[in-house]
Amino acid sequence: VGLTLSDAQAQWIDEKRAPEVTARVESWADHVPTSRYDAIVSIEAFEAFAKLRLPADDKLRVYRTFFERCHDWLRSGGRLSLQTIAYGNSGPEDFADFIANDVFPESDLPKLHEIAEAVERRFEVETLVNHRDHYARTLRCWRERLLAARDTAVREVGEPVVERYEEYLRLSEYMFSAGTCDLLRIGLRRIDHPRPTRRS
Ligand SMILES: C[S@@+](CC[C@H](N)C(=O)[O-])C[C@H]1O[C@@H](n2cnc3c(N)ncnc32)[C@H](O)[C@@H]1O
Repeated sequence: VGLTLSDAQAQWIDEKRAPEVTARVESWADHVPTSRYDAIVSIEAFEAFAKLRLPADDKLRVYRTFFERCHDWLRSGGRLSLQTIAYGNSGPEDFADFIANDVFPESDLPKLHEIAEAVERRFEVETLVNHRDHYARTLRCWRERLLAARDTAVREVGEPVVERYEEYLRLSEYMFSAGTCDLLRIGLRRIDHPRPTRRS
């Protein structure tokens, strides 16, 4: 079962006609599985869960709710693989208005400590890697391809759009190269018997 908010993505998956895969246009917040999952994979959606400028407590509550849902949906010992961009050597205050307002107006990035706090007593961390260099390389390749096909791109979408993409790709490559942003890949294992929080 795959969840997406995009009709086009769900349609693309349906057209693949892979009978073992079902795409649903549904938020994780509304999802009710028919049986428990062995594993959950979440790739680059986490950035969209908390809106920019949400108060810290509310942001943590959204993350905690997501991990609680995943915990409920997994069988005993099930695993959750999470890939997300995160603030590295930075915070929201360091971001160019162009990225915050024009490119990702709805999104905020997590900090590693927020993820660590949100998984507490739900999941244990099995693996954690920061592959920011992978994204720096990817963004460089995308920019090189755009440059190589620049004339065609300008004909199809116009000079201003191409310039915006060039700026986005250049800035993003810099952010991953410099460590302003991290690319976290976290392997989590369900804690089957979470200890209740002791009240003092
Ligand atoms: C940047 S794209 C990443 C796409 C994904 N990695 C893939 O390979 O298809 C973000 C994806 O997260 C999905 N998404 C964002 N918020 C979501 C939510 N609340 N519930 C389900 N999917 C969500 C979007 O629909 C989109 O498919």
